[in-house]
Amino acid sequence: MQKIIVANWKMTLKKTQIEPLVQIINQVEKKDLTIVVCPSFVHLPEVAEKNDGSFFLGAQDCFWEEHGAYTGEVSAWDLKDGGCYYVLIGHSERRRYFGETDEDVNKKVKASLAAGVVPILCVGETKEEKEAGITLEVIKNQLRKDLAEIAPRSNLIVAYEPVWAIGTGDFCSPQIAAEVQFFIKEEVEVNIGLGKTPVLYGGSVDDANVVDFLRQNYIDGVLVGGASTKPDVLAKLLANSIF
Ligand code: PGA
Repeated sequence: MQKIIVANWKMTLKKTQIEPLVQIINQVEKKDLTIVVCPSFVHLPEVAEKNDGSFFLGAQDCFWEEHGAYTGEVSAWDLKDGGCYYVLIGHSERRRYFGETDEDVNKKVKASLAAGVVPILCVGETKEEKEAGITLEVIKNQLRKDLAEIAPRSNLIVAYEPVWAIGTGDFCSPQIAAEVQFFIKEEVEVNIGLGKTPVLYGGSVDDANVVDFLRQNYIDGVLVGGASTKPDVLAKLLANSIF
């Protein structure tokens, strides 16, 4: 079955580190894999140029207006022009460090759909919320707000990214992730009524655990940060994603 692997390079790579990573993706066997690479904005042209058609280009964020006097922002329409097919929206690092609200996230989801760029909406609970036993409530609330007024059958992806698992090495058990993702699918597809929507897992995915996630029902792929920025680990992760 087709699985989606999204590499989120965040702000971690120098230009010189990009070529070996792109080469690996160009060269590896990609049977049943859809690969999406999300470099920083300035590295998008470089990555696009080196892509031999092996993967899709994605961005890590966008602004909701189409154009205008918004210093420092990049619109979803500009991303489309730049060859982006996907964009991460509402990553927990954006919510946490840049104060992005669910209302902002909703505007960004709408803008990317209007621009023809597929939003990858990130949701997930913090450690405190997990310990308080309110994971599903938190996610339901995020989904309701982030996906308000989105048309049924919109082309979008949701990523379940428990905040406590991101960049910590403390990944969610694949079985529990699958249960949460079943809940997300029910919410998005049936209760919010958007229809079939792929749901990814993200948070400390690496070459060793990737297969356990990809083998689960309700996990349509993975969103990978740190492990996608190291050539040897990325090569193994992609090889282990084919089974
Ligand atoms: P990580 O990051 O794989 O380094 O935990 C995942 C993410 O932020 O999407």
